[in-house]
Amino acid sequence: MIQLDNICKSFGDEDVLRSLNLHVRKGEMFVLLGVSGCGKTTALSVVAGLVKEDSGDIYVDGTRINGLPTAKRDIGFVFQNNALFPHLNVHENIEFGLKARRIDNRGKVKRALEIVGLDGFDNKNPMKLSGGEQQRVALARTLVTEPSCILMDEPLSNLDAIVRERLRYEMKQIQKEVGITCIFVTHDQTEAMMLGDRIAVMNKGRIEECGTPEKIFYKPEKEFVARFIGMKNFFNGKIVSLDENEGVMDITTENFDLTAVFMPLDEGTHVKACIRPEEIILMRSNQKTSARNEIRGKILSIFPNGVLMRILVDVCGAEFFVDITRLAAHNMELKVGNDVVLTFKACSVHVIP
Ligand SMILES: Nc1ncnc2c1ncn2[C@@H]1O[C@H](COP(=O)(O)OP(=O)(O)OP(=O)(O)O)[C@@H](O)[C@H]1O
Ligand SMILES: [Mg+2]
Repeated sequence: MIQLDNICKSFGDEDVLRSLNLHVRKGEMFVLLGVSGCGKTTALSVVAGLVKEDSGDIYVDGTRINGLPTAKRDIGFVFQNNALFPHLNVHENIEFGLKARRIDNRGKVKRALEIVGLDGFDNKNPMKLSGGEQQRVALARTLVTEPSCILMDEPLSNLDAIVRERLRYEMKQIQKEVGITCIFVTHDQTEAMMLGDRIAVMNKGRIEECGTPEKIFYKPEKEFVARFIGMKNFFNGKIVSLDENEGVMDITTENFDLTAVFMPLDEGTHVKACIRPEEIILMRSNQKTSARNEIRGKILSIFPNGVLMRILVDVCGAEFFVDITRLAAHNMELKVGNDVVLTFKACSVHVIP
């Protein structure tokens, strides 16, 4: 549906898009995820025709649209700060885009308001609506023109956490109901995970990796992506044995050995092994578990990490981060210097060849 091939864009001597490739399918909610400044807004602006690419091709439904003015691209936008017209009521705000395009608005505004759950809001002053309601008016204003695709640039980032979560859910419902193709930009992992049919992780003007949320969050192929989505405890290792029947392989690192799920790799292959802090069970003494990995260490520090406690453990000179609940930390009476046992399953060891 929307395809970007090798798009490059520089501002002065800063290369902002560096051979960006994207392929968004029809009817899909495609999330562009990346840190501030990696070029997300610039990428959307190129799709919309608001910024002219230096090189590369843009296709919509197989037709090359480079150079086509924004108004002729049949693309809608919803941005972070949606300036609604304060002197127009909600109905007039939504109708505005239709009038500009000389489209007959009979029933369309009403339908758009129904879709975003604001029926009956026609005569309200947009400035007297909550942030979430204003954002929904902005979405209605875009949907009403029935574009073939909609670009959303962090549309929820100005809202508080509760409204944001609800609207996120609603946006996904609306997008599926209308069946519209959507590129949604965010730097929020949870948002990407909840919304995306597919997620592309962007870094310094290009895509590092693209795939379903499950793939990106649980089976990232690149270390950059693994780090970005919160994997921790990265260790360089080497495969020392493989057992396909048992479905496991052993990895040795400088400091300790690990057992991971079998992968069709050769003995002697150098890999990166990583383990999420929340997948590790920490105990004061050795207890029998079915987990394949069991290593001993000493607590170096304990500090709060949101609703959890993060425990830094020294394992033969390597540092392990472990997240446990506050209650668990309290019940075990954990203190710096305690000897502890860390256990985790083979399937918790993510291996990047
Ligand atoms: N019009 C412009 N002129 C000069 N530099 C620009 C322009 N637009 C963007 N840039 C630069 O390009 C880089 C990428 O900007 P962009 O807005 O695409 O990032 P982003 O990924 O959307 O970031 P954020 O998450 O903060 O919105 C930044 O370093 C920015 O300063
Ligand atoms: Mg941006």
